[in-house]
Amino acid sequence: MAKMEVKTSLLDNMIGVGDMVLLEPLNEETFINNLKKRFDHNEIYTYIGSVVISVNPYRSLPIYSPEKVEDYRNRNFYELSPHIFALSDEAYRSLRDQDKDQCILITGESGAGKTEASKLVMSYVAAVCGKGAEVNQVKEQLLQSNPVLEAFGNAKTVRNDNSSRFGKYMDIEFDFKGDPLGGVISNYLLEKSRVVKQPRGERNFHVFYQLLSGASEELLNKLKLERDFSRYNYLGLDSARVNGVDDAANFRTVRNAMQIVGFMDHEVESVLEVVAAVLKLGNIEFKPESRVNGLDESKIKDKNELKEICELTSIDQSVLERAFSFRTVEAKQEKVSTTLNVAQAYYARDALAKNLYSRLFSWLVNRINESIKAQTKVRKKVMGVLDIYGFEIFEDNSFEQFIINYCNEKLQQIFIELTLKEEQEEYIREDIEWTHIDYFNNAIICDLIENNTNGILAMLDEECLRPGTVTDETFLEKLNQVCATHQHFESRMSKCSRFLNDTSLPHSCFRIQHYAGKVLYQVEGFVDKNNDLLYRDLSQAMWKAGHALIKSLFPEGNPAKINLKRPPTAGSQFKASVATLMKNLQTKNPNYIRCIKPNDKKAAHIFSEGLVCHQIRYLGLLENVRVRRAGYAFRQAYEPCLERYKMLCKETWPHWKGPARSGVEVLFNELEIPVEEYSFGRSKIFIRNPRTLFKLEDLRKQRLEDLATLIQKIYRGWKCRTHFLLMKRSQIVIAAWYRRYAQQKRYQQIKSSALVIQSYIRGWKARKILRELKHQKRCQEAATTIAAYWHGTQVRREYRKFFRANAGKKIYEFTLQRIVQKYFLEMKSKMPSLSPIDKNWPSRPYLFLDSTHKELKRIFHLWRCKKYRDQFTDQQKLIYEEKLEASELFKDKKALYPSSVGQPFQGAYLEINKNPKYKKLKDAIEEKIIIAEVVNKINRANGKSTSRIFLLTNNNLLLADQKSGQIKSEVPLVDVTKVSMSSQNDGFFAVHLKEGSEAASKGDFLFSSDHLIEMATKLYRTTLSQTKQKLNIEISDEFLVQFRQDKVCVKFIQGSQKNGSVPTCKRKNNRLLEVAVP
Ligand SMILES: Nc1ncnc2c1ncn2[C@@H]1O[C@H](COP(=O)(O)OP(=O)(O)O)[C@@H](O)[C@H]1O
Ligand SMILES: [Mg+2]
Repeated sequence: MAKMEVKTSLLDNMIGVGDMVLLEPLNEETFINNLKKRFDHNEIYTYIGSVVISVNPYRSLPIYSPEKVEDYRNRNFYELSPHIFALSDEAYRSLRDQDKDQCILITGESGAGKTEASKLVMSYVAAVCGKGAEVNQVKEQLLQSNPVLEAFGNAKTVRNDNSSRFGKYMDIEFDFKGDPLGGVISNYLLEKSRVVKQPRGERNFHVFYQLLSGASEELLNKLKLERDFSRYNYLGLDSARVNGVDDAANFRTVRNAMQIVGFMDHEVESVLEVVAAVLKLGNIEFKPESRVNGLDESKIKDKNELKEICELTSIDQSVLERAFSFRTVEAKQEKVSTTLNVAQAYYARDALAKNLYSRLFSWLVNRINESIKAQTKVRKKVMGVLDIYGFEIFEDNSFEQFIINYCNEKLQQIFIELTLKEEQEEYIREDIEWTHIDYFNNAIICDLIENNTNGILAMLDEECLRPGTVTDETFLEKLNQVCATHQHFESRMSKCSRFLNDTSLPHSCFRIQHYAGKVLYQVEGFVDKNNDLLYRDLSQAMWKAGHALIKSLFPEGNPAKINLKRPPTAGSQFKASVATLMKNLQTKNPNYIRCIKPNDKKAAHIFSEGLVCHQIRYLGLLENVRVRRAGYAFRQAYEPCLERYKMLCKETWPHWKGPARSGVEVLFNELEIPVEEYSFGRSKIFIRNPRTLFKLEDLRKQRLEDLATLIQKIYRGWKCRTHFLLMKRSQIVIAAWYRRYAQQKRYQQIKSSALVIQSYIRGWKARKILRELKHQKRCQEAATTIAAYWHGTQVRREYRKFFRANAGKKIYEFTLQRIVQKYFLEMKSKMPSLSPIDKNWPSRPYLFLDSTHKELKRIFHLWRCKKYRDQFTDQQKLIYEEKLEASELFKDKKALYPSSVGQPFQGAYLEINKNPKYKKLKDAIEEKIIIAEVVNKINRANGKSTSRIFLLTNNNLLLADQKSGQIKSEVPLVDVTKVSMSSQNDGFFAVHLKEGSEAASKGDFLFSSDHLIEMATKLYRTTLSQTKQKLNIEISDEFLVQFRQDKVCVKFIQGSQKNGSVPTCKRKNNRLLEVAVP
């Protein structure tokens, strides 16, 4: 997906204002406050229109990352918060797309961050321009030229630990695509005086310290150096080490950079040898020596150092020694040699060191240029980056400061010109009326310095060329004459009486009111430095060196090319190169970075308002804003303007169909912005007051909130709906899947059930068939077996008669039949009589017939008994029934019984009917009489017996007097409960009566009779037939009877009979009645 374009603006999330043009109200205080506020929030960049103000943060900020580079890439200048990358991007794109050569002018005081800014610009351009191996190599070489030049051209000063001591302008060349092709570096006036002397608290150029700290022992030996800084007079001792700077590591970086840039090993070696030689030059010391001719002469104190230098540089020692002692002046083909005194010798030495070093530096720049120059001849687009030393005010300001500050004046000049010009051009371009603006133009100061007839530089040159004695003082005098009336020139000695009493102005000085402040220049050294003299003897000595590099550095030493014309002075050289530079810059589209130093302590977080105020003043930044705001504070192309504010008007929101300009017109009309507040240019809208812009911004902010709410609303609605639809769709999908799954499962279940059922049925069927088949088979087998048996039987039956095995059985059966036949025939003849009581039975003939024999006897007996019984009449049958009853009741229980068996039961022994005596009795009894007999009734009291007639009818038992036949007592049979008797051979028996019955009032009866058995039997049978109850007959030799109230025990005693064979009865006491039985 393409990255979504988010239209942002500088105006979003601003801290203070991002563009000073929008500052309201505009004055110095608000300006500084805005800078401070932004600085405190780490916003070190602020715009004035297209100019970038950069406040040195003195600490690394996370705003230069590759991500940031990407952020600013291809974005409009005002789209993001102010940044040096925005300016770089603008410049680069303008170069690439609009074919405009660019220059980036970085100005500011020493330590304000110019060099850093230039490096940031270069690294940004390197990051965004084309890629590829070749392009990358070019980029790398361009970037790596920095460390090399910094090592040789930068030094620690009181203002800056890494102060550039030369001016640098670098043209980066691009092809039509915007790919870098190469570059050209120009250097301006290296501060070479630093080689021999440094102000307090400052250092010599970095390279000396780096070499001594970083070189290996071996290299040091080769260069004849010692690691100890204090060994060298040219190295200021008080600040040899700088905090946070690792000279040794930097030395490695520099060597690596030199390698990348394309220095050969021997070139590096040569360069280091020159550096070593310069360092060692400082150690050559002179002592005075008086000559005979009275001339002062100097002599080298210790020749050892000189010797080593000569060895290093392959110079003939005597030549060099001579060069330090004599000076040859050549005039009109005449050579005059004069000796040098000690001071002159030192001057010569230092001049040599300075020249050697500064020429080496120029050589380095050229050598780098050779490496990085574009290889093609095609037309190139150029981006120039100018990082020149900043405006400097020291305690002692000399020629160098004068030159440097002049250069800064020129830059300010070009800034003013170009800014105004650009502004003016824009107005013309856009067809807007131009209103004039007042600002300080420093052209007048430039004029004071560079004017060809009476400028300070011209005066200096004049002095230097003038014959006669020329000193710094004569130069000052001249200035005092010529420049006295100049507004910006101040001197004690001038004709102008203003400064006569100004004690802050020493006599040997002059003061210039630069645009950036007043600077007091010590006039001492101006002439010398401008002359920049190196005695010819020295340059010739150098030219004679065996060292190729040194030789090449001093071409004027070649006697063949001797040139008597004076070389151009340093001042005029510089003026010329500055003029070229300015011309060059004017042809290009300028981009400004104005660096500001927030404090003098090189410290982070400190914002010294006084210091900043000063810089703002001399940089003319307020004027810059005013110019920018002249008439109109803010301008913007129609498209982005419409894009930014179109939501404020119905017609333009959300889309405007027509041209952007008319869209903006409609918009501004709709918003009722007063017409004098804005103006329509050709491609831009111009807004007069920042107020109007802020009003627009406020409206926009408000509207954006509303829109955001609207978008939020719609988005939420949309989101909910999409979510709902998604849920719905998902639900259907899930349901479908679930149904499918459920159906599948059901189907699987049914299928497996069907299979189970199927398999059961098949099994069942198969088993049935199997059963049937088995059955069939068994039937067949059975039929076969039966048939076989049947056949067997048939056959056997048919053939049995032929079998001998059956004979035995036949014989046996036959014999048995015969025996049994014989037995039965014999038995027939031997049958006993038919009397049932005949016990005879023939003996058994064979043992095996034993059971048969016994059975036969039994059957025979039963049969003859039957025969016998069949003869009986009914009466006889009755008698036998009674006899049988008697047998059941008494057999084996009563000893009397056997004797009764033979007696027939007659019952009515006493024939009452026939005896008239008993006629009355007979009449009294209507029922049938079963027993009528005389018995002895035992007297209950004494055991004596009395005869009584005992009568038994169907229902009653009667006792009657034997004589009278009078009924004595009548007992209904139901009242008879029991009959008791002994087991012995006597005829006593007791009849027990039911207790409480009428008959029982006198108690039970005790009788004795000869027909006891018969009587008891009949009593039993009658009771049974009448009352359906079995009469209880107790047979015991001792039983109890109830006599009246007493219970009397009747006891039978056997054998105690004394008289005869009749049993006797005797009442012993009221409890016992004894019967003695024989
Ligand atoms: N953008 C920056 N971010 C962080 N530190 C900076 C930045 N610009 C400058 N500095 C610090 O300030 C010091 C001086 O900056 P430099 O560019 O050498 O000053 P100038 O070239 O103007 O004399 C640097 O060494 C560095 O420590
Ligand atoms: Mg610098």
